Amino acid sequence: MESIRVSHPMRWAVMAEIVLFALSGISQRAGISQTAHYDEPFRPQVHFSPREHWTNDPNGLVYFHGEYHLFFQYNPFGDTWGHMSWGHAVSTDMLHWHELPIALPEKDGMMIFTGSIVVDRKNSSGFCLPDTECLVAIYTGSREPPQIHRQTQNIAFSRDKGRTWTPFAGNPVLDLQLGDFRDPSVSWNEEARQWIMAVSLPKEHKIRFYASPDLKTWAQLSEFGPAGDIAGDWECPDLLKVPSANGKDSIWALKIGLNPGAPQGGSGEQYFLGSFDGKAFTPSLKHGAHGWTNYGKDDYCAISFNGLRKNQHPILLGWMNNWQYAAKLPTSPWRGQMSLPRRLSFMKDEAGLALRQKPVIDRLRGVSAPITVQSGVDLRGVDIAQTTIPNELDLHFEKPSEDVFGVRLYSDEQHWTEIGFDRQKGEFYIDRTRSGTAPSPAFPARTTAPLVASRPYSLRLVVDRSSVEAYAQNDTIAMTNLIYPVSQNSKIQLFSASGKAVAVKGRTWKLHSIWR
Ligand code: FRU
Repeated sequence: MESIRVSHPMRWAVMAEIVLFALSGISQRAGISQTAHYDEPFRPQVHFSPREHWTNDPNGLVYFHGEYHLFFQYNPFGDTWGHMSWGHAVSTDMLHWHELPIALPEKDGMMIFTGSIVVDRKNSSGFCLPDTECLVAIYTGSREPPQIHRQTQNIAFSRDKGRTWTPFAGNPVLDLQLGDFRDPSVSWNEEARQWIMAVSLPKEHKIRFYASPDLKTWAQLSEFGPAGDIAGDWECPDLLKVPSANGKDSIWALKIGLNPGAPQGGSGEQYFLGSFDGKAFTPSLKHGAHGWTNYGKDDYCAISFNGLRKNQHPILLGWMNNWQYAAKLPTSPWRGQMSLPRRLSFMKDEAGLALRQKPVIDRLRGVSAPITVQSGVDLRGVDIAQTTIPNELDLHFEKPSEDVFGVRLYSDEQHWTEIGFDRQKGEFYIDRTRSGTAPSPAFPARTTAPLVASRPYSLRLVVDRSSVEAYAQNDTIAMTNLIYPVSQNSKIQLFSASGKAVAVKGRTWKLHSIWR
């Protein structure tokens, strides 16, 4: 294992070690066959994207009989939104995905909008074969003008591990005769021993809760909202029970998509921490009980996996995009990608409550090198990693004396993305204004999250061909942004306002592509 240590007189030695690091990566890759697909410019290497055509929200995330299922909003006919159907992919580790044929196609003028899938373990629906469990999908059927604009909740079942689906003959199961009523999130509530649905009334900024014994008949329980941020439509709710890191305690989280009008512009997602008594959600009044699941521009309509082991930490996965420019992304023959899966926990400290998100990535880690930089070292021109992309960095900045410091990802001398802590402004930020191609005027941005002075200056970064995912301050801040760099020759440098280093300890990993 090579080590990268930077101290002023040793710069050339450092460069030699970096070359070694790069070469060891080449030999490791030799002999691995390259497939023609999934290698196009900007094609994500550690994030799911469909082989071709348009995708938006993830749907029906579920673990069943050894497979993780990722269904997704999909246009089978093109690379812009339309003909919404559910695409389908499976994985044994939530990272390496294998795309399967379309699961639920648009039919008779009804598009299949966002929804969820549950494992019906006791055949409560009567859809499963005797003494077996089966999958039941709960989704919004949407009819758009020139038809009467109408959104209803519908169900379908699968007895063959999600490969084929039969819509329920008695659909819809919920119809309020409304044009905007969508995105059901259903899970089993053990305490109340019934199915609970959270579903959105987007224009009214309300989440409605319903209960059912059999997934077919639904009775209204309660409503939440308007609350928090109501600048745009409320979409894609998810109600989750989140354990603390040691599993001894838990809290309920209600996550709600907001589009447009999120603080970073366009689409964003707020969460409320609180309690759920089987009927109603009550937000906590503690500091930190209201926040944003992501402070970047590109993470929307994240939902959690159903079917995980009891008491397992929830895992959230979102659409890495923003409706402001989703249709303009410079990629072909696909458009749209998903975030990494993130394991959730919550914590309480002197600053209050916080939701923590840790990306699930370990299985992709390849060659690794430690990083140690002493404080006060002159940083100009020193690379801490000459990386191949994709790459992961885990950095801990110690007792910073600088006001502004962090990491720059260079793709050439004029183009870089800056990820930093600004202690004067009290912000963690990603600045992508010089990152490369800007597909729309709404794209260049410096996204920010409030810093908590008492939490550590830790920074976990996952850099892919067209994105950077950052997790800061012990994973209490998640910030995800798309980037379209001018080249894939990435150089990673530390920076600070004065040019002198803040002491850093950490590690970098090359990441294996999920497609090869
Ligand atoms: C959110 C959303 C959902 C809807 C889906 C349609 O991105 O607008 O509310 O179900 O996309 O594709």
